Amino acid sequence: MKRLLITGASGFIGWNLCQLSTSEWEVYGTYFCNTLDITNVNMLSVYLTDIHTLKSLFIQIKTEAVIHTAAQSQPNVCQNNTQESHVINVKASCDIARLCADAKIPYIFTFTDLVFYGYNPP
Ligand SMILES: NC(=O)c1ccc[n+]([C@@H]2O[C@H](COP(=O)([O-])OP(=O)(O)OC[C@H]3O[C@@H](n4cnc5c(N)ncnc54)[C@H](OP(=O)(O)O)[C@@H]3O)[C@@H](O)[C@H]2O)c1
Repeated sequence: MKRLLITGASGFIGWNLCQLSTSEWEVYGTYFCNTLDITNVNMLSVYLTDIHTLKSLFIQIKTEAVIHTAAQSQPNVCQNNTQESHVINVKASCDIARLCADAKIPYIFTFTDLVFYGYNPP
């Protein structure tokens, strides 16, 4: 089976995507604070905000696609902790996009329409 990396597998969207993916993919899921087991998913504790850790992860699992759902998903927390939120919501998202581009693999990114509604991209 092809290998799929789902970041934020311990979160709402990531967990549900894991359930949908395991029949067709060898799934690797990341978590941050909330350790949990998901049947047929290789769960990994990963500091996504560290580029060296990310590079090692890509080398280690040789993923063939990435769905990036890990995020600080609470708008109020983002507003009150802009720098901490930026490193996971912006920097990590860009770093993973670059690694996927380098590896020529698909990258699916989830975000909120509170920030970008989807029209007139920069
Ligand atoms: N839920 C929705 O209905 C919905 C709708 C539209 C868009 N979205 C967007 O989709 C994305 C995911 O939403 P969600 O509802 O699934 O969020 P969530 O339930 O809060 O899950 C967030 C995930 O990100 C991980 N995470 C948080 N901070 C991290 C960090 N610094 N480093 C590594 N991992 C970190 C969490 O890990 P731990 O739990 O292990 O700490 C968790 O797995 C967000 O961008 C959200 O805005 C969600």
